[in-house]
Amino acid sequence: AAESLSLSVIGTGYLGATHAVCMAMLGHRVVGIDVDGEKIRSLASGQLPFYEPGLNKLLRRMLGSGRLSFTTDYSAASGADIHFLCVGTPQEPDSPAADLRYLNAALALLAPHLHSDCLVVGKSTVPVGTAQGLTAYLHRNAPAGTHAELAWNPEFLREGHAVEDTLHPDRLVFGAATERARTLLAACYAPIIADGVPVVVTDLATSELVKAAANSYLATKISYINAMAEICEATGADVNQLAAALSYDNRIGGRFLKPGLGFGGGCLPKDIRAFTHRAKELGVGQAVGFLQEVDAINQRRRQRTVDLITEMACGDLTGVHVAVLGAAFKPDSDDIRDAPALDVARMLHQAGAKVTVYDPKAMDNARRSYPELTYAGTLEAAVSGAEIVALLTEWDLFRRADPTTLGALVRLRNIVDGRHALDAEAYRAAGWDYRALGTPNQLPTPVPGQVSTQRAPAWSIRGGTDAPSAE
Ligand code: UDX
Repeated sequence: AAESLSLSVIGTGYLGATHAVCMAMLGHRVVGIDVDGEKIRSLASGQLPFYEPGLNKLLRRMLGSGRLSFTTDYSAASGADIHFLCVGTPQEPDSPAADLRYLNAALALLAPHLHSDCLVVGKSTVPVGTAQGLTAYLHRNAPAGTHAELAWNPEFLREGHAVEDTLHPDRLVFGAATERARTLLAACYAPIIADGVPVVVTDLATSELVKAAANSYLATKISYINAMAEICEATGADVNQLAAALSYDNRIGGRFLKPGLGFGGGCLPKDIRAFTHRAKELGVGQAVGFLQEVDAINQRRRQRTVDLITEMACGDLTGVHVAVLGAAFKPDSDDIRDAPALDVARMLHQAGAKVTVYDPKAMDNARRSYPELTYAGTLEAAVSGAEIVALLTEWDLFRRADPTTLGALVRLRNIVDGRHALDAEAYRAAGWDYRALGTPNQLPTPVPGQVSTQRAPAWSIRGGTDAPSAE
């Protein structure tokens, strides 16, 4: 059987809570520590404070096993073999730089409790060079001195697939300077390594860079195909066909080549900005200058989606009822950080549209951050009476919806598919004017006995008998 270690996980947000549960699954004894008492109470009572498929069940199972506990008391970390730092490193409020205050605070609270040999392992995404500074701090402030060692072990998990990505990662990266640190990390991940998962051992700086480089590459791939969508829009070509043809080239591959509204979330956008900022500080800003383009292409998708919806409303959104499907930055998550869907909803609202939002999981978060928008309790309620439907986050619930059933609820059958997630032919056959960025605009099939809504002329949106009064 694998060796059972004693671990502390500092910071029990998305990353930390997932890591704590998964490490207990591997057989280790784990204490999760956070300064947020409410979060800790919730986790200790078996209730995840966020949505992640499958994780809540595992949390309860691990609490039941007796190997997992949660506390706000940092002294509980004392004596553990490894301390994982899992606090957030968000973007600073008024700068592109990463905000390291939570990381520094966590280490300051932890260090006084490190009396014996141990390894402190950073998992947070940080600017290259951070770990070196933290090492010096640790050696100065831990009673164990240099026997408290620092290593870096970046995390690549995706929201919505957090458990799978933690227990079956593509690779493990150990930024570890000493044999002891490498051995301890290998013991911690022994069952995963036994599955054949490759381990890349690096110095501290390289391990910090892996994460920035990986996320920058992924963001670049998404913006690349979205840039091609812009070209398609100017020529009448079809970006979906283009992406399919590119994806068969093994050197390119099809993953992260999905065109649409672009990337959001708590990682990709802030990581490319922080990386650009750090590179400039290091005097090598030119090397990643293209990331500013990647960011700009991504932002343009949001405006272009608003433009397309405005076009469908014949140039004026005032009083037009737009049903926005999706609020989370991606499906299977309740995370709305830098969510493209809500950004677009906000812009539509500002342009005078009556926006009704529905999302299967992110409603509470969305309501808190965007109280000016209207929220519906169900998909059906959101689209009821709508003049334009905008699919902005591709939840399965929306993909599976029947175009005929939806068509009976709306006032006008206009749909913008911001994620290329729907069956365009099925929608057109059901009489919808279906549009998606980067694909040619085709007219819907006329349905006998039904007034066509295709290319809704100005009067159909603006002036019909049951049209909203746009005062
Ligand atoms: C990302 C990285 O994938 C992960 O490795 C890292 O640890 C954290 O950041 P995450 O933010 O959870 O994970 O989501 P991801 O699945 O990468 O999607 C990011 C955004 O890109 C989403 O808004 C998604 O809608 C968008 N996306 C993704 C596209 O627009 N097209 C694609 O082809 C793929």
